[in-house]
Amino acid sequence: MGCQYFEPTSGGADTFTVAMPKLTFGRGCLAELGARAAARGLRRVGLITDRLLVNGPLVDIARRSLIAAGIDVAVFSDIRIEPDQATIEAAAHFVADGKFDGVVSIGGGSSMDTAKAAMVYALYPAGFTDYFGPPVGAGKPVPGPLMPHIACPTTSGTGSECTSVSVIRLGDEESKFVLGSPYLLPDEALVDPACTDSLPANVVASTGYDLLCHALECYTARAYTRWDRIDDPTRRPLLQGANPWSDLAAIKALNIVGNYLERGVKDATDHEARDQLMWGATLAGMAFGNSGTHLAHAMSYGITHLMHDITTDGYPVPSPFIPHGISVVLGAPAIFRFLAPYAPARHLEAAGFLGADTHNAIDDDAGEVLATRLVELMRGGGSPNGLEGVGLTSDLISAMADSSARQTRAIANAPFTASRDDIEAIYRQAISYW
Ligand SMILES: [Fe+2]
Repeated sequence: MGCQYFEPTSGGADTFTVAMPKLTFGRGCLAELGARAAARGLRRVGLITDRLLVNGPLVDIARRSLIAAGIDVAVFSDIRIEPDQATIEAAAHFVADGKFDGVVSIGGGSSMDTAKAAMVYALYPAGFTDYFGPPVGAGKPVPGPLMPHIACPTTSGTGSECTSVSVIRLGDEESKFVLGSPYLLPDEALVDPACTDSLPANVVASTGYDLLCHALECYTARAYTRWDRIDDPTRRPLLQGANPWSDLAAIKALNIVGNYLERGVKDATDHEARDQLMWGATLAGMAFGNSGTHLAHAMSYGITHLMHDITTDGYPVPSPFIPHGISVVLGAPAIFRFLAPYAPARHLEAAGFLGADTHNAIDDDAGEVLATRLVELMRGGGSPNGLEGVGLTSDLISAMADSSARQTRAIANAPFTASRDDIEAIYRQAISYW
């Protein structure tokens, strides 16, 4: 793995930043929540979770732990999975009115992302798109710190406990966009793999594909030295490209997906596999929180934009809905086949980390070797077969490409910046794989 990937370029960045919450990992650590919140001096917290979890055992453990530590708790659970403006505004009212000195989020990315964005609008009210980047928003920086936030993930995919972004569906745009600021990084994460014991197989699969793409996009991202140097250190973007830190975490996360995804999906009692996937999700969050994702995530937003009448078995959410991880992985084999010629060694190494046999492969084989391994992982975890597998037909592709092309910063974080027409051509290769 060549250090030459990060060789200096003229006018390019020569510095990268690593941002991380304080992190605790292990079975049963959710019960530490009260002690950890008390150690931060919290006396009254707003607990943000979703409707499926609010009356279940995980929120019960968390609430009892907080109360045992002498902390008042109020709960907000009116969250749309993949939160939208209405969810964020309701949660922001909850935070603004609650007289809290801290926030706890429990759930998947939807709960953690809602907590982050709710604090932004509660503390710094503004027009809703003001803090989103162009072209959909005004690109206003979040003005200052949020409240102390302890994030407790219950799925093994999002990594949101380790990132400074919140992904929100914008109604007018009918797509998802990223609200990002260093202030959004949670202060502390409690990552308890026992939370995933009760997850159904299809949720472990879709979140596992999200983790897979986080790690793969990090490892193959444009090198940070190929982004422009920023003179003001406070303006250095979070999406700063691949760097030696994101490599470390991404490589291990790719190993974990290659070894444990299928096992974790197929057997809920396989604690080794589920623990590893939870650790992998956290590692991938540490990686992409400090490098950014690229084309697979950018193109997933075109998929969720066009899914007008699609539902997904096992998710009690109204149509339209495709789980985030599925929307990301559907394009992955075609995307990485397209990008591999622009960083072949990285793509071949990534295929090897995922368990592909790369011994006799040469650079020209990189795209095919990686795409083949991705298709194996899709089939092994029960993924739909490409766009057709979720009912997206070729007549929608032009509109999907128009939608995805707006994710300009993420597209530019790939080793090659795909044009709108490139994106359309990639979608056509993603119709079906087997
Ligand atoms: Fe993701």
